[in-house]
Amino acid sequence: MNKPKILVARAVFPEVIAKLAQHFDVESNQTDELWTKAQLTAKLQGKQGVFTTGGERIDAELLAACPDLKICANMAVGYNNFDLDAMTAAGVLGTNAPDVLTETTADFGFALLMATARRMAEAEHFLRAGLWTKWSYDMFAGSDIHGATLGILGMGRIGQGIARRGAYGFGMEVIYHNRSRLDAATEAECRANYVSKEELLKTADHLVLVLPYSAASHHAIGAPELALMKPTATLVNIARGGIVDDAALAHALRNKTIAAAGLDVFEGEPKVHPDLLTVPNVVLTPHIASATLPTRLAMANLAADNLIGFLLNNKPLTPLNAKVPI
Ligand code: GLV
Repeated sequence: MNKPKILVARAVFPEVIAKLAQHFDVESNQTDELWTKAQLTAKLQGKQGVFTTGGERIDAELLAACPDLKICANMAVGYNNFDLDAMTAAGVLGTNAPDVLTETTADFGFALLMATARRMAEAEHFLRAGLWTKWSYDMFAGSDIHGATLGILGMGRIGQGIARRGAYGFGMEVIYHNRSRLDAATEAECRANYVSKEELLKTADHLVLVLPYSAASHHAIGAPELALMKPTATLVNIARGGIVDDAALAHALRNKTIAAAGLDVFEGEPKVHPDLLTVPNVVLTPHIASATLPTRLAMANLAADNLIGFLLNNKPLTPLNAKVPI
């Protein structure tokens, strides 16, 4: 029997390609070329499944041109690269890679928060530039994490992981805002109190964004929201570019509307708004919150297992849209 044909759209762990090759006729991209939409569409001809990594846009136009496609398996928890309604309409299943990255990503959110509040990037650049000639009482004085108020916008699994780190590890007061309030047991476990978005913005000493990107969350943090924050506050975005208005943030950082920001995600990444590159009080990282080797391997295996589970047994592990019969 012929094996189903699949495409792996970006380079991934060779052992994951080898696992997929046991079940599928695999076309992979181990040279990691960045394909245009037309190239991706051409490569998808005759393929029943595609392994995506979050950057490949799957929309109605592509789906109409790829009639054999049955499943798109994202190696990412976020799936704003999928037009899920169009996929459902076309009878194509989408899967993502939740859970396996939760703690690693929460670790990184906390690391970026600490680097931002304690001005570690600025201080390191200063030292490397040979500018450190003497001690001074306020040199790179930042703001405290312990005992401060931690605000979290978007209280899913990763937000809850950050809340636990703040509450249990650093004695922080944790407040959050989310589309829907958590049940009382989860709130108690996270030691987190639900507040309105306005109160969150006004009260947080450190605000971490962990909400999914959608039309509704586009520019959830723009000039009006930044103006509500404390001038001593820090803002951390590990969610998605587009949730923050990057131009407005650069302006707020330059004018000290807020003290500092830590950003792992950007509007239009891998391009970064030029104004963010010239303000000193921002820590910038290239979308690496889930990047530890064990976690990235677990994410890749989950995407692969979704392809295997669905195309071979009609049992995807982490489906996103209505089950689409094979
Ligand atoms: C990374 O951004 C992910 O969504 O997994």
